[in-house]
Parts: sequence; structure tokens; C-alpha cells
Amino acid sequence: MIRTNDFQRESLTIEIGETNLDKEQLFDVRKHAAGLAHEIRNPLTTIKGFLELLKPSLSEMGRGEYAEIALDEIDRVNDIINQFLNDMKPIHHKKELLSLNEQLMALVKFFESESKVKNIQLHTHLSEENIQVYIDKNELKQVLINLVKNAIEAIEESDNPAGYIDIRTEIKDHQAFIHIIDNGCGMSYDTINQLFMPFYTTKTMGTGIGLAVCKEIIDHYQGHISISTDQNKGSKVSIALPLH
Ligand SMILES: Nc1ncnc2c1ncn2[C@@H]1O[C@H](COP(=O)(O)OP(=O)(O)OP(=O)(O)O)[C@@H](O)[C@H]1O
Ligand SMILES: [Mg+2]
Repeated sequence: MIRTNDFQRESLTIEIGETNLDKEQLFDVRKHAAGLAHEIRNPLTTIKGFLELLKPSLSEMGRGEYAEIALDEIDRVNDIINQFLNDMKPIHHKKELLSLNEQLMALVKFFESESKVKNIQLHTHLSEENIQVYIDKNELKQVLINLVKNAIEAIEESDNPAGYIDIRTEIKDHQAFIHIIDNGCGMSYDTINQLFMPFYTTKTMGTGIGLAVCKEIIDHYQGHISISTDQNKGSKVSIALPLH
């Protein structure tokens, strides 16, 4: 559902309240992708076996290094598939009580050097209250990293020489809020309509998984993500989480 909303920056006019993401659909995508990855391993094992058999003959022909390179590449593909299958495993949520501000300070540290190199100012306006949430630390980190990465990429896309990202926390309506505001390229109406759909991306190197994963995680904690944006001016992503 798309509706105009003025609870955020006045210049940013569009907010996504509900999204197109269907949980079962996402689960199916994960299941099929994991099945596919698993099946790729079987022919790879056969190829590797035959290459090993051929290696002595290739060495005799002075082409041993070709076999070495091919075998190394097969190992690399296997590593990527194993990593992928690990990522696709059902998530085990390790909830703990976290100080939101502490997590955000750690996030800023994480992006400190990248933002410096890219000439992007990272500001924080953290609530003076000790906001606490009950959530898996790595999942929260995953959400925040995805959102800041998107903000950085939006600024790069905009060619804005004075990029800034503002990270804010507040308590509102008995909920903990994290706002990530950027002055990047903003989003078109078409993009807004498809946000949170797995594999929707406008980037040549993007996979379009980031926001879908963020939403899945935040939904799990009975939270909510909303996005308001103004094309060519910037975007504001807000996460609401239940207060502990
Ligand atoms: N802060 C932002 N500013 C502008 N556009 C954004 C922002 N965040 C997300 N988008 C848009 O939403 C799309 C989907 O974002 P999402 O994070 O899901 O995937 P992605 O960034 O394209 O790829 P990845 O899987 O690597 O994160 C992006 O391609 C981009 O068009
Ligand atoms: Mg992304």
C-alpha cells in the first residue's frame, strides 16, 4: 500500500506502510535456491574426479597447470556453494537485551573508513534515553549494514559531492525507532512499488535481496520498516521495534 504521509521530513512524501513481500514466497525462493545450489555440487564432484584422473596425462603434455587452475576453481565454486547453503539454513534467533545506541555506535565504526574514502559524512543523533531492544545481535547488525550500504550506494548513484547519512534513534508511541536518512538519489515511483520484493534491484551489481531480508528479520520481532523518499533528494528508512 502506498500512501502519502507527513510524519517524516516534509520534503519526503511517500511512505510504504505494507509491502508486497509474501513470506511463503520468500521461503519458496530460499528453498529452491538452496536445492539448486545443492544439486550443482553433484556434477562438480564428477568434473573434479575426472580432472584429477586427467591431471597426470596433462602434466606429461606440459599442461599440468591448466588442471591445477581448473581444480582450484572447482574448489572455489564449492566454497561459494557451501557458504550459500549455510546462509540459507533456517535462522536460529539468539535474542538478547541490547542497547540500541551501543549497536549504532558500533555500526558507525564499521562504516567509518568506507564513508571517509567515499567522502560521505556519517552523523548520529542518538536518543539520550537508554533504548533497549530484545533481538539477535547479528540479525540487527545485518539489517543496519544493509540499510547503510543502500544509503551509501544511493549517494554514489546521485554523484552528490557532499553526501551525508544521518542515523537517529528515538522512542515514539512506545516503540524504539531507528531512522537512516540519506541525501542520495531517492527512489522512483516504480521502485517504491517493488521494494521488498526478493531480487528487485535497480543496480547492475545488486542482488535485490537486502531489503527483503531486512523486512523478514524485522517482521520476526513484530517490528515495522517504513520508507519515505523524494527522487533526487534522498530517502529515510525507519525501523520500529518493540521496546523492551
Ligand atoms: N536508500 C536508498 N536510496 C535509494 N534507493 C534505494 C535505497 N534503498 C534501497 N533502494 C532501492 O531499492 C532497491 C532494492 O534494495 P535492496 O537492498 O533490496 O537490493 P540492492 O541494494 O539492489 O541489492 P543487495 O541485495 O546487494 O542489497 C535498490 O536496488 C534501490 O533501487
Ligand atoms: Mg541493498
